[in-house]
Amino acid sequence: MKIAVLTSGGDSQGMNLVLKAVLDKCKADKIEIYKVSRGYEGLIGNLISPFTYYDMHGSENDGGSALGVSRCPRFLEEKYQKIAIDNLKNLGIDNVIVIGGNGSFKGSTKLIQAGINVIALPGTIDNDLNFDMTLGYDSAVNNAVKAIDNIMDCANSIECGIVVKVMGRECGDLAEYVGRAVNAEYVITNKTTIDYDHIANTINEYVKIGIKAPIVIVQEFVEDIEFLSKVLAEKCNKRFKTQDLGYIQRGGRPSAYDRAYGYALGVEAVEHIKRGEVNTALGMIDGQIRAQGIEESLKVKSAII
Ligand code: ADP
Ligand code: F6P
Ligand code: MG
Repeated sequence: MKIAVLTSGGDSQGMNLVLKAVLDKCKADKIEIYKVSRGYEGLIGNLISPFTYYDMHGSENDGGSALGVSRCPRFLEEKYQKIAIDNLKNLGIDNVIVIGGNGSFKGSTKLIQAGINVIALPGTIDNDLNFDMTLGYDSAVNNAVKAIDNIMDCANSIECGIVVKVMGRECGDLAEYVGRAVNAEYVITNKTTIDYDHIANTINEYVKIGIKAPIVIVQEFVEDIEFLSKVLAEKCNKRFKTQDLGYIQRGGRPSAYDRAYGYALGVEAVEHIKRGEVNTALGMIDGQIRAQGIEESLKVKSAII
């Protein structure tokens, strides 16, 4: 039995804990373990080699991924999928642990179709898979909240409104949850019908009762924060600044939850492979690490936490 592990899509906090757990488990169980650098790009480019503790450099508690990640549009093409699969087969690798988000999950089904055993693990800050939470989401929420706390110290002092853009791709969970955690005056996600008068009136009501620095949280791709801040400045007769939180959310050390979650995912992934319970996703469901079909995992969920 040979196992390869890869991280794909956008990096997320906790990915390195999965890698450490996979190493620990494979060492204990005397299983040959390989690393793939840069996700599906590394599969196509044959960046596949034995995975050792030296590759981690003691970085298991760091954010990012020690193996690197990539967006790999060519993996959508059958021609490149075949190259990737041949590279695995030439090395006799029969099992792959894929850590990534919804795109990486879709990609992993191409490996299964070619006879490679897959375990897919939900590593993304976007929380756009059908689990309680994806790995990294909790850390990203906490990073965003801490960043906004800092911003608010200044905003309250200078009495200025703030429009903050948060990540999440097509999923509004990060925006929703951060909005609740910082007690934002307005949250705009892809479920919001944007009505500038309504937003401005809501903010004006808060300003009237003494809120000095109203916060508007905006899910990325939903609204231009520069434009919105200009509209609000005019309609509320108040200064507004913007802040795009960017990689501040995705980087940094994982939260305690994501450390424990990541490590448990890695252990369970190897356990499932040993038992032959493959071609499945694993993730937190009702507070336990459970197996669930990859297709089922791709269904959009409704809860925000
Ligand atoms: P994430 O996994 O974080 O959602 P992406 O959406 O960028 O990130 O997906 C990561 C990679 O997964 C893509 O760059 C591509 O290589 C692969 N992928 C995404 N969708 C598919 C698909 N439908 N078929 C094959 N591979 C896919
Ligand atoms: O999927 C994670 C994520 O951080 C999204 O929230 C964001 O839209 C995207 O990745 C940013 O991608 P990149 O790092 O490729 O710019
Ligand atoms: Mg995604």
